[in-house]
Amino acid sequence: MNQQNQPDHSKNKPAPTAFRQPRILCVDDERSGHVYLEALLAPQGYELIDAYSGEEALQILQDGKIDLVLMDIMMPDVDGFEVCRRIKSEEHLACIPVVMLSGLQSKEARIKSIEAGAEDFLQKMQNQEEISARIRMLLHVKSLNERLINSFNNIKSITSFGENIIRRFDPLRFDFMENIDSIIKQIIRRTADMIDKPLLMIVGVRIGRAPWQWHHYEYVFNELIRMSVPFDLDLEVASLPDRILPKIIHFNQSDYPKPPIHDQLHKLRTINVNVRNAVCYLSEELCIFAVNYGHTVTQYDAVVLESMVVQSRFLRSLATQIQEVEDAFNYAVRALARAAEANDEDSGKHTVRVGEYCAVLAERLGLGREFAAAIKLQATLHDVGKIFTPPEILRKPGKLTNEEWIEIKKHPVYGAKIIGNHPRLIMAQSIALNHHERWDGSGYPRGLKGSEIPIEARIANLADQYDALRNARGHKPAFDHAAVSRILNQGDGRTLPQHFDPQVLKAFRESDFLFANIYTEII
Ligand SMILES: [Fe+2]
Ligand SMILES: [Fe+2]
Repeated sequence: MNQQNQPDHSKNKPAPTAFRQPRILCVDDERSGHVYLEALLAPQGYELIDAYSGEEALQILQDGKIDLVLMDIMMPDVDGFEVCRRIKSEEHLACIPVVMLSGLQSKEARIKSIEAGAEDFLQKMQNQEEISARIRMLLHVKSLNERLINSFNNIKSITSFGENIIRRFDPLRFDFMENIDSIIKQIIRRTADMIDKPLLMIVGVRIGRAPWQWHHYEYVFNELIRMSVPFDLDLEVASLPDRILPKIIHFNQSDYPKPPIHDQLHKLRTINVNVRNAVCYLSEELCIFAVNYGHTVTQYDAVVLESMVVQSRFLRSLATQIQEVEDAFNYAVRALARAAEANDEDSGKHTVRVGEYCAVLAERLGLGREFAAAIKLQATLHDVGKIFTPPEILRKPGKLTNEEWIEIKKHPVYGAKIIGNHPRLIMAQSIALNHHERWDGSGYPRGLKGSEIPIEARIANLADQYDALRNARGHKPAFDHAAVSRILNQGDGRTLPQHFDPQVLKAFRESDFLFANIYTEII
């Protein structure tokens, strides 16, 4: 395994180009010239294409994939030198070797051939073995050049793939399978002429200790299809020789891998996949088989696959780490909210419910998924300033004195101070400071009015009021959902509709059934 299959240099075999024999364009205005070349080259397995003029040769070159041109110099209309110059002046043709053929040994013709860009100059009646050897050598050079160009294109493709996934990278919504799909799209053969790419791909994914999930990718009618493989390839990657993972291997028919991979690949015949060659990326959580390239696979193909998979695994690991940090941040915020609630008369999950109501209103107001997710978490800190409010005031049954009210009304400012101004908690700070402000300006601590009050605080104000009214307090009983809706929309003398942003109140009316659900589900 991992041996690089070199082109066959045995004496009478041409250098293979992909899985077809090299195609040689023979250009000669005389039939005898074609007969001569056919007698010499056809037995060696080359595919010969005849052209009887320079113009015809140029036309064929545009249409088909020619690997080498053998060209007579003396032709009517356009001579061999001119045709050669034109071939070398076109970027997509310039890498095709041109061998000039002349009936005579002429120093001048040899120099003109070199000046026209020809790779070689041969006499028609030269030693036939030498002609054959030079053609093999030039075809080999061409195949090496093609490999170089392919490598260059692959580097470009890997770079643009990397740029693309980094640009779209969202660690909190990173979807590993989506990322694998985009790797497959980069590598797999989309159209029949892309013979340098694998015809199909088999991907195995294992999450944790769950069983492997195997998928089969293939383009069908210009559409990339992902199908489940109806059996487990049961690839004991850990039992592979040398057990070093991840492992990247490649093989062709001539060096087909030994068990256990061999046995597993045989299973693919049941889904009509006959593996001729493959590049395999094997790890404990992800296996990718790029199967049936149109050429002999080499370490270059292996490196392309490996580079893309490594980028993807790196992003997955980064996303996991960022998600863990995000989870820890959310946990810390909720813990702080719970601590603040400990002294309040609202036992249970008041702060959590307020976050949930806020998310409902934010979505109804069209503020976007990110805003809704942020307010759901950060609104839980709205009363964190009550940590500084004496518990006997918070839990006092009956009416509060003026002094006690003054003490209570300090909690928004305390809350804003506790939260501070870290960029991640700006919304929480704003809600803590402003959640008792009222649309009509009758709120506290600053008496802000209308749109002076940040939208997140206008939302949190209504959410907080809804939940406060649902619960019994020292000075009032608990109300049911219908009663609370009536109070918010029509007022009860103490709570009035003009306290609320009309748009927020409208959003509440449109989604109040969700408030009822949240209240009964989060107790
Ligand atoms: Fe409050
Ligand atoms: Fe509250």
